[in-house]
This record gives sequence, structure tokens and C-alpha cells, in this order.
Amino acid sequence: MKALEERIRQEGQILSDTVLKVDSFLNHQVDTALALDIGKEFARLFGSAPITKVLTIEASGIQFAMATAIALGVPFIYAKKKKAITLNEQVYFAEVHSFTRQETYQVSISQKYLDASDHVLIVDDFLATGAALVGLTDIVKEAGAELAGVGCVIEKSFQEGRGLLEQRGIAVRSLARIASMAPGEVHFIEEADA
Ligand code: G4P
Ligand code: NA
Ligand code: NA
Repeated sequence: MKALEERIRQEGQILSDTVLKVDSFLNHQVDTALALDIGKEFARLFGSAPITKVLTIEASGIQFAMATAIALGVPFIYAKKKKAITLNEQVYFAEVHSFTRQETYQVSISQKYLDASDHVLIVDDFLATGAALVGLTDIVKEAGAELAGVGCVIEKSFQEGRGLLEQRGIAVRSLARIASMAPGEVHFIEEADA
């Protein structure tokens, strides 16, 4: 997505050769017009599948899941990182190990909102190590739902996330794929039909 690549070039802050900050338009302040366009693009890329729900994980995936869900005319669900307050609610759980934080946490979704009749599109802001996204795909499997694929706004292609998902036979589409970066320069991979 050219407009997104341009914004990354203009406003992205490359903090090291692995960490990109996009707080001025994606991750802290959000450019709503761009977010809606991102949603339309995911809807275009995955819209041939009969998607019933968009799934993401709190917090920074939410605006893109919502934009995608609006474009598809379906609800979205965000997995929660904190334990549910109500103990009697039936939930799906996945364990996620965060490499940056060196800790393992659980993500959960109420079983009320996902079941075997669903066709799910997973959306997130960053594809990095892929640990959180693999956790979400495990939940979709546990629910017996169909997974249409995973859409990520920014993929750091030099990290292992895409490989982990593709090993599981999952279709991955990212709107900006970063091959490499260093302060002052970022190199993108071209998507054949993006
Ligand atoms: P993960 O695979 O479980 O996401 O773990 P990882 O350690 O790779 O990433 C930890 C968090 O940092 C994730 O957000 C991820 O989206 C985000 N992240 C990874 N690489 C980058 C980067 O280069 N730039 C920015 N801005 N974020 C990055 P999270 O834990 O899901 O938190 P939240 O921000 O969604 O609340
Ligand atoms: Na995220
Ligand atoms: Na994040």
C-alpha cells in the first residue's frame, strides 16, 4: 500500500535496526482516514472469503480490526490480555510468549462470540515475532472456526512471524513489508498484487 509506505518513510522513527515507531499516525495518534483505507484494503484482499468476524488483540490492533470490520460489514472481536473478571464465563485461552518483554501472558476470548460457524480474518498492526498472532490462530482452531488469513499493517520481514504463520498453512498479507531498516532509510518488499 503506497500511501502507507510513504507515511512510514516520512514519519516513521527507526529506533534501531529492529524497532520502528509510528506513533504519529498508527500507534498512538491515529490517522483515521488512513485507518479506514487500511480496513478497505484488507477487505479487498480477503473479501472473496465469506468472513463473519474480524479478530485482533488489544490494544493497538483494535482500530485496524474495526476499520476492516466496517468495510466488510461484520463485527470484530479483540482478545483481552487481562484475566476476565467474571470467573464463570467460558473462555478460549492461548499462552503467548513476548520476546521483547521476556514474559508469558494469556490472551482470552469469550466462547460466546466465536464458534464453529465463524469464518475469521485476523488483523493486527505489527507482524514481528508472530507469537501473539500464532496464539490467536490457536484460538480460532480451538473454536472450530475457519481461518481466512492474517492481515498485518506493517510486517518486519526480517523477523520470523510470517514464516511461523506460513508453516501452519495460513495466508498472510501485509500492507507494508519491511525488508530492512536503519536510521534514515527503510527498504520495502513489493507485494505482487498489493
Ligand atoms: P508478539 O509477537 O507477541 O507481538 O511479541 P513481540 O515481542 O514481537 O512484540 C511485542 C509488542 O511490540 C507487540 O505489541 C507488537 O505489536 C509490538 N511491536 C513489535 N515490533 C514493533 C515495532 O517495530 N514497532 C512497534 N511500534 N511495535 C512493535 P503488543 O504486545 O501486542 O502490545 P500493544 O501495543 O498492541 O498493546
Ligand atoms: Na499489536
Ligand atoms: Na503494538
